[in-house]
Amino acid sequence: MRRTVAASYGAEMDSTTDPVKVAARSAWAQGDYHAFARATIWEMGPVLVQACGIGPGQRVLDVAAGTGNTAIRAAETGASVVASDLTPENFDAGRREARAHGVDLEWVEADAENLPYADGEFDVVTSSFGVMFAPHHQAAADELVRVCHEGGTIGLLTFTPEGIMTGFFEALAPHLPPLPPDASPPLLWGSEEHVRRLFGDRVDLRFTRGDYGEYAASPAAYVDLLRRTFGPIVAAYTDGADDRGRTADLDRDLLDFATRHSRPAADGQVVLRYEYLLTVGHRR
Ligand SMILES: C[S@@+](CC[C@H](N)C(=O)[O-])C[C@H]1O[C@@H](n2cnc3c(N)ncnc32)[C@H](O)[C@@H]1O
Repeated sequence: MRRTVAASYGAEMDSTTDPVKVAARSAWAQGDYHAFARATIWEMGPVLVQACGIGPGQRVLDVAAGTGNTAIRAAETGASVVASDLTPENFDAGRREARAHGVDLEWVEADAENLPYADGEFDVVTSSFGVMFAPHHQAAADELVRVCHEGGTIGLLTFTPEGIMTGFFEALAPHLPPLPPDASPPLLWGSEEHVRRLFGDRVDLRFTRGDYGEYAASPAAYVDLLRRTFGPIVAAYTDGADDRGRTADLDRDLLDFATRHSRPAADGQVVLRYEYLLTVGHRR
């Protein structure tokens, strides 16, 4: 059975009143998430869809779907797809992108830690660089398993602690509110051991590591993209807007990160290569 709101939050709270979730939604709604995704991780949605073997007739739930990077590609295979996310402000961009791809999917506001679906409703449950941002990992993993039917597939893309995303988080950390005391760091989802612990013996797991590139004209141009489009960074600039010292420090830390990890690429561009963990699991 679906967990009740009271079971996961206490009697009075849900994701629309829990201050941690409200703040997360507000941050992810800023900037232009779709422009960011198109310029960076857009090639990864199809990788997850293919790894999960998604095809016609399957019922798919994409969790923390953003603007449909994975969900739209799943729908293109002929699957029936629900794209769910904490941040419905980004759904209009997703609907426009889906229309451009000639597919129709359902867009549903939902917290990954409390999915509004019955047990075993979906053949495939996916999340690309999404569920890793829910603060309570065990609650989120339990929900992925619960809504996936026996024999179904759970597919995840997550950043790894060994890759350059650690440097990205380190650059940002001094400029963002601290993680709540009961939250776990997102990059733990990039550790095979952590993922095994979360799913236990409920899911047969297969792991593959890989990397992909994010391209820009220069490290400064990459930072400019982040400043304009990536919600949590736009929020950090907005919060520090009346303090020129804070803004300058954030500029410096982001540029330092981008410069350290940029490598020359074709046509005079630079590339930052991010390592990911691809997890594909079959529900026992
Ligand atoms: C880096 S984006 C990834 C989006 C998309 N999956 C993609 O591949 O482009 C992270 C997403 O996680 C969502 N998110 C953060 N916390 C969440 C939560 N507790 N429940 C559901 N979605 C959440 C954000 O709103 C955001 O859309």
